[in-house]
Amino acid sequence: MTAILALNSSVLGDQSVSRLLVDEAVQQLSRVNPNATVTFRDLGTTPIPHLTTSNVAGVRAVAATEHDLIARDLSDVLIAELRAADIVVIGAPMYNFSIPTGLKAWFDYVLRPGVTFSYSEAGPKGLLDSKRVIVIESRGGMYSEGPAQAFDFQEPYLRTLLGFIGLTDVTFVHAEKIGFGPDAREAALASAKSAIARSASPA
Ligand SMILES: Cc1cc2nc3c(=O)[nH]c(=O)nc-3n(C[C@H](O)[C@H](O)[C@H](O)COP(=O)(O)O)c2cc1C
Repeated sequence: MTAILALNSSVLGDQSVSRLLVDEAVQQLSRVNPNATVTFRDLGTTPIPHLTTSNVAGVRAVAATEHDLIARDLSDVLIAELRAADIVVIGAPMYNFSIPTGLKAWFDYVLRPGVTFSYSEAGPKGLLDSKRVIVIESRGGMYSEGPAQAFDFQEPYLRTLLGFIGLTDVTFVHAEKIGFGPDAREAALASAKSAIARSASPA
């Protein structure tokens, strides 16, 4: 049985492009894997708390206080969801050239020393087993080519974060020029849906 973890992080509710495309990816993957289970986590509508001075030790050191223990337990849950998944679908809109703070907070809980990555003399090592990751990147502008390419702090950042914990089998699906009017938006959605269909199909 295939386990799918679907993460959303848009704050735009029903207007969200990435949420629509995450649903499309889940549908396509469920069609190809009929017995798949799907776990949804919505970091946009139900954000997880940011790390603060009072709880950071729960994730990055030894949990001592009640707040630390709450953070550690949440980190355990999020990492267990990630470990259990065979395929991860991440809705990652571009907000201010990078990712939404809700998604960043999720990474803050999931990148955990000694659990999902380790350091040695050879450098950092990701500790998660490899799995397929499909990242849906919705963007108001155009960053995959052209003059704004240099301002894409979203895709290289996500590639680094995922690779850091051992997830290197990553497909990025772009829905670009969402802010360029209805025709451009429709074209972006059609192109992204085709890319999702290709990446959902067995190799
Ligand atoms: C807070 C915020 C910041 C944004 N910053 C950017 C940006 O830096 N570059 C860009 O091309 N589009 C930007 N946009 C537009 C979004 O990338 C675009 O609306 C995209 O569809 C968002 O994905 P979503 O609909 O799933 O939330 C921003 C939108 C919001 C709400």
